[in-house]
Amino acid sequence: MISRTTIDKVFETALVEEVIGEFIQLRRSGSNLKGLSPFTDERTPSFMVSPAKQIWKDFSSGKGGNVVSFLMEHEHFTYPEAIRYLAKKYGIEIEETEQTAEDKERVNERESLFLINEFAKSFFQNTLHSTEEGKAIGLSYFKERGFTLETMQTFELGYSPEKWEAFTEKAIKKGYSVENLEKVGLTIVKNEKQFDRFRGRVIFPIKSMSGRTLGFGGRILSTTAKAAKYLNSPESIIYDKSKILYGLYTAKQSIAKEDNCYLVEGYTDVIQMYQRGITNVVSSSGTALTADQIRLISRLTKNVTLLFDGDDAGLRAAIRGVDIILEQGMNVQICTFPKGEDPDSFARNNSLEAIHEYFKENSKDFIAFKASLLAEDVRSNPIQRAEVIREVVESIAKIPDLIKQELYVQDTARTLDISEDVLFSTLAQINQANKRRSSRRAPEQPTMQLVEKEPETAQKVDAQQILERKILEILLLYGDKEETFEEVFEFYNEKGEKEEQKEKYTSKVYRKVYLDLQEDEIEFTNSLFKTLYEKIIEQYNQKEELRIQQFLQELSAEQTAVISDIMMEEERYVLHDWQRAEIYVKDKHMGIAQLVEETILSLRANLLNKKIAEMATALQKAELEEEVIQQQLSSIKDYLQLKTLLASSLDRVL
Ligand code: CTP
Ligand code: MN
Repeated sequence: MISRTTIDKVFETALVEEVIGEFIQLRRSGSNLKGLSPFTDERTPSFMVSPAKQIWKDFSSGKGGNVVSFLMEHEHFTYPEAIRYLAKKYGIEIEETEQTAEDKERVNERESLFLINEFAKSFFQNTLHSTEEGKAIGLSYFKERGFTLETMQTFELGYSPEKWEAFTEKAIKKGYSVENLEKVGLTIVKNEKQFDRFRGRVIFPIKSMSGRTLGFGGRILSTTAKAAKYLNSPESIIYDKSKILYGLYTAKQSIAKEDNCYLVEGYTDVIQMYQRGITNVVSSSGTALTADQIRLISRLTKNVTLLFDGDDAGLRAAIRGVDIILEQGMNVQICTFPKGEDPDSFARNNSLEAIHEYFKENSKDFIAFKASLLAEDVRSNPIQRAEVIREVVESIAKIPDLIKQELYVQDTARTLDISEDVLFSTLAQINQANKRRSSRRAPEQPTMQLVEKEPETAQKVDAQQILERKILEILLLYGDKEETFEEVFEFYNEKGEKEEQKEKYTSKVYRKVYLDLQEDEIEFTNSLFKTLYEKIIEQYNQKEELRIQQFLQELSAEQTAVISDIMMEEERYVLHDWQRAEIYVKDKHMGIAQLVEETILSLRANLLNKKIAEMATALQKAELEEEVIQQQLSSIKDYLQLKTLLASSLDRVL
């Protein structure tokens, strides 16, 4: 177990904006940072990070919390994994308290598989750099490819010995189970025999965005062998091919910085380009691009440049796969290399300036490229023309931005030498067809629907919860503020007339809230809010202040989300200005004391209403004794009186 001191140190050091900034491109927006939600498919940013409050809030998915909860949500880390990650990032030494047998058991399956991969990665690296076989075969191969030692370290390349079970044997001796070794695919078990999947291959570890080893790629060295040139780890609970991009870990920062991402075919292309100084480069490693992979990139940049081999026979097929990138609203450029060159060879054979120059001159907008490529194809064959037009317009239809669509239609009309009208009507046709297709996909959501009227109680519960939430907000934002409140005493003077006397007093906000609610025996109805209310009050009572950062550490993910939700409320109105104008103006100009009093009074009034309604229905339903009815009626009368009183106090504060 990680010691408390280490955890505290991590929280003191880690900056939420820095950590999240590695995964999402954030832009300044007032005192906050703003970016695209990594949890949804949005195109306008509603993900906010507050450096001052050290919390984040994703308004499109509703998630939010502190730095650790971000890593848990985004990287699917467990709590200790997140702490370890941060400790590593900030160079904090991890102090472990002793592990009990139970603790050890708790290390879950995922964790064991990650451990195996870490072990394997080191084993392959050691073999490459420190064994005769590794040096003679693996290292010399990489050197021949032009990789420097530094590059090999950066990508943690390795070598797996040409023996049936060199690795498996070592791993078992180290205490890893064959079962788990098989699960991550490092060991193949066949007819009671076990052997190394990657034997005799150079190794490319495949890492997650945060640098964890998910799997491996292995390239065979002998040119004569019939075996596949490249082998990859099979999918496992920690390795989902469709959701990772090779090189993203090393590329993510420069992708965000350069605001562009180069997409290449494979491992060697990524590494060679990186070594040459073009570091914003990733690959999907042999498989067709998926929407999930594009989403990984789109958090960092909206711009993708595809690099294709010069004599790519599959160019036309590859081009079809690009629609998936357009669908995500990305700007796609394409750049092809001179005949016989691929990114690997081109990066190896040219200087950095020459490469930049080449990219600048030869990168073309994807749609324009596709149109001119296909136009070339059919210049001699007019019958295919319609087909080609349709294919280009299909791509245009994938672009979510309608203005862009229009610009592309104009461009394409010129390239294909055809009237814009024809293109627009083709586009309309395709859009129609797509619409029909998508509506067929979701039949459970008819456009028109008779909505049953919500039962009235639902609305009341809502009002109650809003008020309860408001109380939490007041406590979080102003709990330790000293404010002047007004108390009104009503009494009868000697003449028997009612008189009011106002008395001013000061109190900390949290104390005022607590005492008032206690006096009325008001209980929160939402259990999550209730727990949080109790926890916040407890904090204030103990320390007279609320250190949000530390407080959040003690909460569950669900609780943390509520708190950051409330604390980021203000930011929501920055995002949607109209909402702010309509709803929150009142709060903004209201003094804190007034806000506190109004909220408490509203809460009382609301509860009172509920009580009265409850009693009234009870009276209607049951066959009660006359005496009981009288009693009930009189308490209803009392309540109603109380209500008038409350209403007048509310009037006063408003
Ligand atoms: N690739 C793959 N699986 C294959 C072939 C290729 O995943 N069966 C990927 C690899 O990531 C490789 C890239 O595609 O880096 C380029 O392929 P290729 O040029 O054939 O691989 P190289 O290792 O560069 O081989 P060669 O030295 O023959 O060019
Ligand atoms: Mn190659």
